[in-house]
Amino acid sequence: MGCFDFSDAVLDHFMCPRNIGEMDDADSVGTVGEPDCGDALTIYIKVENHVITDISFLVYGCAAAIATSSMTTELAKGKTLEEAYRMTEEDIVSALGGLPNDKLHCSVLGPGALKKAIDNYRSKTADERSAPC
Ligand code: FES
Repeated sequence: MGCFDFSDAVLDHFMCPRNIGEMDDADSVGTVGEPDCGDALTIYIKVENHVITDISFLVYGCAAAIATSSMTTELAKGKTLEEAYRMTEEDIVSALGGLPNDKLHCSVLGPGALKKAIDNYRSKTADERSAPC
């Protein structure tokens, strides 16, 4: 572990987050938390043929929240919707080389926002399929 008991991978993703920013042409968006009063994460996805082809995020939270959100997007890119939906906070923490115990709860934001984005995509595409011509 590096300084503050964070692994080098956590510090790297905190200092240089991957896939950060809003996505104007996202196919779907998922948010967990409360941006106005606390920790929150929004994930944007682009989907082609059931595969997440692009992904980005905006987060309000601590260093661990930034690093886990960044790693969530790295792991989800290129996965099918089904594979991405099965991702857990343990997958993300493990890919980051661990987190201090008192920061483990920050890792729930990533899979939560990703699942919401996928749920929203599925409801939107189901609505489009059932819309009258
Ligand atoms: Fe609240 Fe990390 S996101 S302490």
